[in-house]
This record gives sequence, C-alpha cells and structure tokens, in this order.
Amino acid sequence: MAIIKTYSDSKMLAIEAASHIVQCAQESISNHGFFSLVLAGGSTPRATYEVLATVQFVQRIEWEKVHIFWGDERCVASNHEDSNYRMAFDIMLKHLPIPVKQIYRMKGEIEPKEAAKEYENWMQSFFAVRAPRFDLILLGLGYDGHTASLFPGTRAVSETRRLVLDNYVRKLSTWRLTMTPQLINQAANVNFLVSGKGKAEILRRVLAGRYAPEEFPAQIIRPENGQMRWLLDADAAALL
Ligand code: 6PG
Repeated sequence: MAIIKTYSDSKMLAIEAASHIVQCAQESISNHGFFSLVLAGGSTPRATYEVLATVQFVQRIEWEKVHIFWGDERCVASNHEDSNYRMAFDIMLKHLPIPVKQIYRMKGEIEPKEAAKEYENWMQSFFAVRAPRFDLILLGLGYDGHTASLFPGTRAVSETRRLVLDNYVRKLSTWRLTMTPQLINQAANVNFLVSGKGKAEILRRVLAGRYAPEEFPAQIIRPENGQMRWLLDADAAALL
C-alpha cells in the first residue's frame, strides 16, 4: 500500500521530502554502504533540492557514499536551461561533496537511442550482478498524468524489457530519455512529490480514478517489493 502524506504548504513539503531523503540515505548507507538516489526534473523536486543544499542538511548525509542518477532527461545539452541535470547541478549538486564519478547523467546531447543504451550499460555495471534496485527514486507528476518522461500514449509506458528508453513525445514534438516502469517498480522506495492547486484534479484521477495507465502513466508506478509514498501539499491534495 502506498503511504500518502499531506503537508500544509509547498515549503513544508520540501522540508519533509528532504528529511525523508536524509533518513533513507542513513539507512541505505548503514545497510549496504552506499545510497543510490534517482532525481526528477520539475519545480516541486527543485524545492527539495534547495533544502538539501542548505547547511543544516548538507552535514546530515555522507555525500561521498551517494550515487546520483536521473529518472528522465530532456534531449538538450547539459548546460541548456531545460536540462534536468543542469537544474539539479546548479541548485544542489555543485554544493555537495559528491565525487564527480558518482554522478551519472543521462546524455541529452547525443543520439537518444545511443544515450538510453549507454545509461542502461552504466546501470548494469553499477549494480553488477545484483538486480537494478535503487534505494530511492524521486518522481514528479505532470498535469497530463505523466511521470519521469512516461507521457500518455508513448511507447515507454508499456515497455517491459528495457530499463531506460528513448521516448518520442508527439505532443511536445521532442525526444526524451526515461527510466521505464519496469525499472522504477524495482526500487526500494519511490517518492512522488506533488504540489500546487493545478495538480489537484490530475492527482485525484491518478489516485482515485479508474486504472488507465496509457492515459495516466503515473498509475503504472507500483513498486513490486518496495515502498511508494505520495508527498503532497494541501493544495495538491484538495480533491482527495
Ligand atoms: C521532467 C520531469 C517531470 C516532472 C513533472 C512535474 O523532466 O519534466 O521529470 O516528470 O517531474 O512534469 O513537474 P512540476 O513539479 O514542475 O510540475
């Protein structure tokens, strides 16, 4: 069963989401010596990254034992303003003592098929003989029900073999790179971060509407052997 938590406003949501990352990092590091964290793009995760980069939070995590991945990326250069890597780097990563070789960015600037394959290969060598099970995956929710770059009606939503895919999004006339549901659902923890009035209706549909993952891809995220959490602010939760 998913855990649903609602906080008074987006600021509290960011603080609680960051506190949960700290807790998850500490547990993972004491369990198996490292913490694998998958980041999302979007404005709600961004507020959480800002909190993690503050002095009070920086010292609560052994950052040299953290490995950073991305759930999705836009097909642009790494210094482009739309790059999910750039957003996380500017807001958080450049302030943290994480070894550069432990930051695995999706290469939005190369041919999408090649970039997806390369990311899968990195992941396979990172997890070696173990199944690719991330300690924590952060996700946002789009107004159309997408999450990561799993957009309604795109092929990545129903992909069952690949871990990362190049995904053409017709309505945006663009390619995206994205982790597949198959991979996300193997994680130990999946946290959706959702804030704002504008998300209330889609959140209601995703959580309480009929099951139609082709239409609302976020519904397909159901970790098989992990814990899913919906961390919301009161505005987003207004219609639940
Ligand atoms: C992206 C994201 C995407 C995002 C949602 C929510 O690259 O666009 O990874 O899935 O998280 O669209 O974004 P907001 O929090 O900005 O609404």
